[in-house]
Amino acid sequence: MDKERLIDDYGREIRSLRFSLTRRCNLNCIYCHSEGEKREESVTGEISAEVVVEIARVASVYFDIRKIKFSGGEPLMRDDLVEIVQGMRDFEDDISATTNGVLLSKYAAELADAGLDRVNVSLDSLKEERYDFITSSRNNLPKVIEGIYSAIDARLTPLKLNMVLLKGINEDEIVSMVDFVRECNKRGGGEMAILQLIELIPSFNHKPLQGSRDRGAESHTMLNYKADFYELEDELKSKASAIKTRELQRRKKYFVDGVEVEVVHPIDNTAFCANCSRLRITSEGKIKTCLLRDDNLVPIESVDEKHIINRLKLAVKYREPFFHTST
Ligand code: 5AD
Repeated sequence: MDKERLIDDYGREIRSLRFSLTRRCNLNCIYCHSEGEKREESVTGEISAEVVVEIARVASVYFDIRKIKFSGGEPLMRDDLVEIVQGMRDFEDDISATTNGVLLSKYAAELADAGLDRVNVSLDSLKEERYDFITSSRNNLPKVIEGIYSAIDARLTPLKLNMVLLKGINEDEIVSMVDFVRECNKRGGGEMAILQLIELIPSFNHKPLQGSRDRGAESHTMLNYKADFYELEDELKSKASAIKTRELQRRKKYFVDGVEVEVVHPIDNTAFCANCSRLRITSEGKIKTCLLRDDNLVPIESVDEKHIINRLKLAVKYREPFFHTST
């Protein structure tokens, strides 16, 4: 049977769902956009495992969407994550989670057994002091490194290391991160990890940085830390042995010293939006048409199949690129 496709008014087909499973997090990263949900709002109840699995099933059966990503908050703080993954493994091709890695060594093997295919782990610095500053936490870096190793051992790969580039904070660590990826590859005996360099996205959660050791930090907004991605890409281009473009959001992949480096450069990049193929579901069970908007959320109010189908279609109707060629 030919399945119906979910295609928006701009010709963009939905190929993946990204569920934010919770707003809770065991870190407090200075730059965090919380997947476009407000951090300080009280949590009014998280989407249930049953609803998550049912939305995924309907999207797979009716619209041929078989790619799922879990994020948060921190998705590993949901104690039913294993159950959720298990519930959908039979109708998905690719199930992944974006995690901060703090709890990963505990759950990697179990999640892999349940059907999780791979993880993205946030790792912005390999220097403890910087890591603590960025995450507003202490003593977590060694746990995250352990978590990454456990994930490689459990073959939750290709494992992506998410590094949000922050000007003046971690920009000088790209080479050490490439070395770390090489070490991960060696540990797993193959291409296990990919470095993903991410441009800072503005968020309504950003406040002036109180904790910064910079003088005059009070007047800084996070955007002062936005690194120059045009410069970065020029440098990668000059070093790369090969360059490829991914279909998703036209992301560029560079191969540097035997390591794959992917660049996520959404801001002012109209091609990024023009190629967006994901639909988000918030931790409260509302469909979100764009990371950067929350004025047209579409709530899912029951597990009735027809209701879910109609809500998915309605959300897709609302979709429009945030960055247009005309702006
Ligand atoms: N800008 C860019 N990426 C962000 N992330 C969170 N907040 C931001 C932001 N403001 C990404 C990081 C992290 C993942 C959970 O979300 O890549 O690894």
